[in-house]
Amino acid sequence: MSEAKVNNKTDISEFAIQTEQLSRSFGDLKAIDSLDLQVKKAEIYGFLGPNGSGKTTAIRMLTGLLSPTSGSINVLGHSLPQDAEKLRRKIGYMTQKFSLYDDLTVQENLRFIAKIYGLRAKQQKQRIEQLLSVYGLDQRKNQLAGSMSGGQRQRLALAASTLHQPDLLFLDEPTSAVDPENRREFWEQLFDLCEQGTTILVSTHYMDEAERCHKLAILESGFKRADGSPDELMAQLGAHVIEIESHNLRQLKQHLILQPQVISAAQLGSRLRVLIQDSQSDPVAFLRHQAPLSNFKPEQFSQVRPSLEDVFVTCTGDGRQ
Ligand SMILES: Nc1ncnc2c1ncn2[C@@H]1O[C@H](COP(=O)(O)OP(=O)(O)O)[C@@H](O)[C@H]1O
Ligand SMILES: [Mg+2]
Repeated sequence: MSEAKVNNKTDISEFAIQTEQLSRSFGDLKAIDSLDLQVKKAEIYGFLGPNGSGKTTAIRMLTGLLSPTSGSINVLGHSLPQDAEKLRRKIGYMTQKFSLYDDLTVQENLRFIAKIYGLRAKQQKQRIEQLLSVYGLDQRKNQLAGSMSGGQRQRLALAASTLHQPDLLFLDEPTSAVDPENRREFWEQLFDLCEQGTTILVSTHYMDEAERCHKLAILESGFKRADGSPDELMAQLGAHVIEIESHNLRQLKQHLILQPQVISAAQLGSRLRVLIQDSQSDPVAFLRHQAPLSNFKPEQFSQVRPSLEDVFVTCTGDGRQ
C-alpha cells in the first residue's frame, strides 16, 4: 500500500473514480457531455467507443491534465482539477501514443522515469529489475526502445507507467498496435495488477477487449450510451438476435435493413446476423413473413445469444446506417 493511501484518511470510498455531469467542450464541440461515472476500486473499467467519441478527453480530465468545462470529478478522494498535484504520484497514465524515448534503451527509459519519481538508487535498481522480469524484458534491457516490436514497446510502456506502483492506472488504447497473442498476454498482466489492488481504466475500440473488463461504458459522440458489466449489458439488450444461414446474403441484407423493426444486419461468413426490436414477440415469424425469406426452411433461422457487439450496435447509431 502506498504511503499516500495510509495518510489519506478521507479516501474510504469504495470508488476510485466518481464524476457527476462531467462535460468538456472545444469551441462548439462537446467532446464529453454530462458524464456520470462510478468506477470501483480494484476493478478494470473500460471505455468502449469509436474514434472521436471522447475517450482520450475523458481520461485527460480524470488524470487532472485537462480542466472540465463543467461538472465534478473525484479521483481517489481528491477533487479535480484543484487537487491534481496530490494525485500525481498515485496514478499512472499510459498515453495513446508511445511516449517513451526511442533512442534510449529499455533500461535507460526506466531509469529516467524512476528519477522523475525520485526513487533512491537502491530502490530504483530493485524496482527496475523486478519490472524487467515481470514484463519479459530482461533479455532486451540494452535494446533501443525504437527498435522493438509493438507488443514489446507496450510492455515497456506498461512497466514505465507502473514503476511508482500507482493505485490507479489509465491506459488509453494500449493494444492498438499489438498482435492478438501479445494482446492476450498484455491483458493477463492487467489482471495481475488488478489482483494486487490496482484500479484500471482502459479505453478501447475492440469488442473482445471491452468484454474482458469488469464493467464498461459505451461512449458515442461524447455521450455515455450504456454502462454495466458485459453480462448485464448483454442481458438488457432490448433486441432479438437471429442468424439466417443462406447464400446470396447481400440482397437479403439490403431488404432487411429497410424494415423499421430491424436494428441492424451484418454478414458473418454464410450467416446474416439480424438484430430485431424486442417489441416483435416472434422475431422468426416476423422474418419468415418477409418476401425474400418466404421459401426459407425453419432450420435456416436460429435465435442466438447476444454479444457485446450487438449491444454496441443497438445503443449507438451504427445499426441504422
Ligand atoms: N484539444 C482539442 N481541441 C479541439 N478539439 C479536440 C481536442 N481534443 C479532442 N478534440 C475533439 O474532441 C472529440 C473527442 O476526441 P477524443 O477525446 O480524442 O476521442 P477518442 O479518444 O475517443 O478518439 C473529437 O471530435 C476531437 O476532434
Ligand atoms: Mg483517443
